[in-house]
Amino acid sequence: MISTHFVPSVYSHQKKEGKVTWKAPSNIALVKYWGKKENQIPANPSISFTLDACATTTTVSYKKLENRSPEFSIDLFFEGKPKEDFRPKIESFFNRIEPYLPFLKEYIFIVETSNSFPHSSGIASSASGMAALALCLMSLEKELNPEMSSDFFNQKASFLARLGSGSACRSIEGDLIQWGEHKEIIGSSDLFAIKYPFKVHSVFKNYFDTILLVDKGQKQVSSSVGHNLMHNHPFSEKRFKQAHVNLKGLQSVFEKGDLDKFIEIVESEALTLHAMMMTSLPYFMLMKPNTLNIINKIWEFRKATNTHICFTLDAGANVHVLYPENEKDVVFQFIKDELVVYCEEQQYICDRIGFGAKQL
Ligand code: PMV
Repeated sequence: MISTHFVPSVYSHQKKEGKVTWKAPSNIALVKYWGKKENQIPANPSISFTLDACATTTTVSYKKLENRSPEFSIDLFFEGKPKEDFRPKIESFFNRIEPYLPFLKEYIFIVETSNSFPHSSGIASSASGMAALALCLMSLEKELNPEMSSDFFNQKASFLARLGSGSACRSIEGDLIQWGEHKEIIGSSDLFAIKYPFKVHSVFKNYFDTILLVDKGQKQVSSSVGHNLMHNHPFSEKRFKQAHVNLKGLQSVFEKGDLDKFIEIVESEALTLHAMMMTSLPYFMLMKPNTLNIINKIWEFRKATNTHICFTLDAGANVHVLYPENEKDVVFQFIKDELVVYCEEQQYICDRIGFGAKQL
């Protein structure tokens, strides 16, 4: 199904060649997207903190061909070296977005990309990677249609990024980003992400995320396999409804700065994501013993200190430790003293809430 809103009519300008660079951040979901329908439509709405330090930088150089080519012409480089492994994913992305960017077969592209985080860190780069690439292609479209508004630019970038990797649509802007239709969130859409439209208390304006690298290997289950496991899952319908309820619950949490309720929803979402994987067929256990050791330590520390440290997880063993700025010294000391021992090679990444992608 084509979303006609994002199909351009005629371009007013021409562009022979050029080069553009975008740096797009990763994001961490608070209410998780897990399960999708056809065409990358999410089965439930989600919300995320945009990150700051974890990011992908992509440069796209483009040159107009004499004649439109029957195939895409793309040269791919990762961290300075040719990277043919990316080709299937990038070509399938180009195929999906071609109806919305009809010039893709009229140019030859060189795509050079690098991540701020180590390649083998177990941190997925698909969200930041697809967002950065979508933004570069939008910059070319803006050359062809300079009248485009910045709102449309961001919305279409999010729309395109979603077609590469669902969660990538939440990596265009910051700081709190919502994706997926929710009847009480005005402007929410399954097609692209929006900035959270309600009031957000200042405590959430500067939140920290220390990512503990428990397992730096390749993910055991790709997210597309994971999303598919939600079809015919015995608990999927209840889970999709729960995501709506949790998003609604977060509205007053964000407004009032209710950290206790925030912790309850965020940790429950993380554990539910993993519970869904444990109860699908086939079933998976993506936590490692050290994931559980860290969670238990966080719970003990929170109880003993009355701080507001909490955790969330993505579809893997690594732990995102979340905490507000006014507790950062005591919590970070605790992380260094007691949690880092559970990390593979004692590695972790210090990140915090960020404000979206930047053109360099
Ligand atoms: O964007 P995908 O298809 O890689 O899915 C991401 C799924 C989770 O990271 C587990 C949750 C989320 O909402 O980001």
